[in-house]
Amino acid sequence: MVIAVDGPAAAGKGTLARRLAAALGLPYLDTGLLYRATGRRVLDAGADPRDPEAAAAAARNLTPADLARSDLRGPEADMAASAVAAIPAVRAALLDWQREFGRRHGAVLDGRDIGTVVFPEAPVKLFVTASAEERARRRFLELQGRGTAADPAQVLAELQARDAQDRQRAVAPLVPAADAAVLDTTELDAEAAFAAAMALLRERLGEL
Ligand code: DC
Repeated sequence: MVIAVDGPAAAGKGTLARRLAAALGLPYLDTGLLYRATGRRVLDAGADPRDPEAAAAAARNLTPADLARSDLRGPEADMAASAVAAIPAVRAALLDWQREFGRRHGAVLDGRDIGTVVFPEAPVKLFVTASAEERARRRFLELQGRGTAADPAQVLAELQARDAQDRQRAVAPLVPAADAAVLDTTELDAEAAFAAAMALLRERLGEL
């Protein structure tokens, strides 16, 4: 069984998808890591993440070690990931790998295009969202928790710029699948979001 969890940045997808995977005994894949690792490799090579050739070469040569790097988060890595993600050859290079991961034992995958492109036939699709202000507030607290200095207004501006880029790209843009259940977590904590998602899963799949 494949469960697709899509949505904009900092909506709580990762936390929710990880909990669903644990509850259902399924593997979990954070597909954003693939784009983050690709962006990081391009930056390391001194190239521009918007350069299609450099980005596609980086995506084709990703290794498991790239996905385990500790420097895949932060404003520079965020924007590099979003930039490489707009390049069709990058998405094509990462597609089969994601599909194989899901098909092997079933999985919960979180990203932007899981329900629309990677697994359009997934029996359950969640589109997790929250207001931009609430998402920026969560991201700000996360940065503070890691001891990273941040300016709240700048966090909001960067989040909105990245979402706009992810929504407006021509290939696999961030958009809810027609058959996705939309879960707005603006007023929900992680526990309540998990309970709401489990209720939606039961509606679609019956008792779990
Ligand atoms: O989920 P995340 O914030 O770690 O994702 C980082 C970037 O990767 C995001 O801005 C867009 C891109 N991405 C994508 O295009 N498709 C996915 N399935 C996952 C992430």
